[in-house]
Amino acid sequence: MLVVKTKTVHCCRECGTNHPKWAGQCSGCGAWNCLVQEPVDEAVDLAAEGPPRLAAMSELSLLHDIDAMLGQPQPTGIGELDRVLGGGIVPGSVTLLGGEPGIGKSTLLLQLLAWWPGPALYVSAEESPQQVRLRAERLGAVRPELWIAAETSLDGILTAIAGTSPSLVVVDSIQAIADGRTASAPGSVAQVRDCAQQLVVEAKRRGVPVVLVGHVTKDGSLAGPRVLEHVVDTVLSFEGERHHALRMLRAVKHRFGSTNELGLFEMTGRGLAGVPDPSKLFLADRRAGLAGSVVVPLIEGQRPVLVEIQALTVSIRPGIPPRRNAQGFDGGRLALLLAVLERHASLPLGDHDVYVSAVGGMRLSEPGTDLGVTVAVAGAARELPVPDDLVVVGEVGLGGEIRQVVHASRRLTEVARLGYRRAIVPRSCPQVDGIELVRVATLAQALAWATDPPRGGRSDNS
Ligand code: TYD
Ligand code: MG
Repeated sequence: MLVVKTKTVHCCRECGTNHPKWAGQCSGCGAWNCLVQEPVDEAVDLAAEGPPRLAAMSELSLLHDIDAMLGQPQPTGIGELDRVLGGGIVPGSVTLLGGEPGIGKSTLLLQLLAWWPGPALYVSAEESPQQVRLRAERLGAVRPELWIAAETSLDGILTAIAGTSPSLVVVDSIQAIADGRTASAPGSVAQVRDCAQQLVVEAKRRGVPVVLVGHVTKDGSLAGPRVLEHVVDTVLSFEGERHHALRMLRAVKHRFGSTNELGLFEMTGRGLAGVPDPSKLFLADRRAGLAGSVVVPLIEGQRPVLVEIQALTVSIRPGIPPRRNAQGFDGGRLALLLAVLERHASLPLGDHDVYVSAVGGMRLSEPGTDLGVTVAVAGAARELPVPDDLVVVGEVGLGGEIRQVVHASRRLTEVARLGYRRAIVPRSCPQVDGIELVRVATLAQALAWATDPPRGGRSDNS
């Protein structure tokens, strides 16, 4: 006979590992000070082990007989979302949309529900139906066949799904719902994980896609979506500066496609609008002739994007440790580039604070932006602006050599489209129409050219 016993465990907020005793560090993920006390239910089989029994089996099929077409992604009608998901939402899949409160998760999902063809169910566990209706009116999202359930119990949600037979379900948010059979409070690690697991089972059983909203707070006080990452098929992260209109959508995990696409939105008075031409947006406010400003062509997923990098150097009094501050760029990488500048370009900055920022809230994560950052810092330190029609691309090696980048011609085509005419590039870079290439082998060559370009004539020194 099975009986349920409740006991208390110490559960990791980050990864969900249970510990019988409190510890400072989680043995599962190594995080510190993340164990919280939670009651859990445990099924105990009172009947001693009997002979092995054959369990009832779930449906069994030959792989050959499975219809692959049924698993095709269905476009959402929101171009930037489809880009990140690799075409759309896969039937029966479970997607977690994580992001800080106020970033625009509910807005994005209401827009998704508005354009979705067919019946859809919005479980609003945090806002009243009236609040949702008001927002939906603002977004033009009121339509027939869009059901709303202001429901916080898991059973209620399952009943609502059964009653409305939707072809898309959104649960906003997973932290606000609870299963009455589990002893812990809503938002606890056990509740969040159990509710998500049951919704995953329901999604697979019905072949209906489910989108879960997960709040992430900076101090991690809620059960973080990291616990859920293993349970769901896709994890999307919605990011951006709250006081900036730009929002970035990335796939952190995606069972059905690549995770390197970036979706860009702008928060407007009428909801989120896709940004089809991000380069124009990022370069709109660029001031010409500014020392320390350099434009670099990045590749985000499949898409080339031009971004302005700005650097500022300030001399400091002797004896004070210099500050290095990087926004949208890795601080360790900046320190490395400053060391290369000192060693291979005779530009010591030990007596200067150095600030580097990617304008517009972009994150520069690929090495192809190294040379741009280095040229920006050198230009700021020497107070020499680079030409307005110049872009810079290349990876900087520890020996001061400039290394090649991937998708060079795709980047340069975007550069030409936006009216830039010259580019400092690695030696192996292929020719692209409309762009004058300055091929360089070393950082010293790049800096010499960028801050003192020859006037007139061809500068292609290949
Ligand atoms: P919301 O979707 O509620 O964020 P989340 O669900 O991630 O907590 O968005 C909240 C912010 O978005 C809020 O500050 C108001 C702003 N907003 C707009 O600027 N325009 C709009 O059309 C809407 C609906 C919201
Ligand atoms: Mg919300």
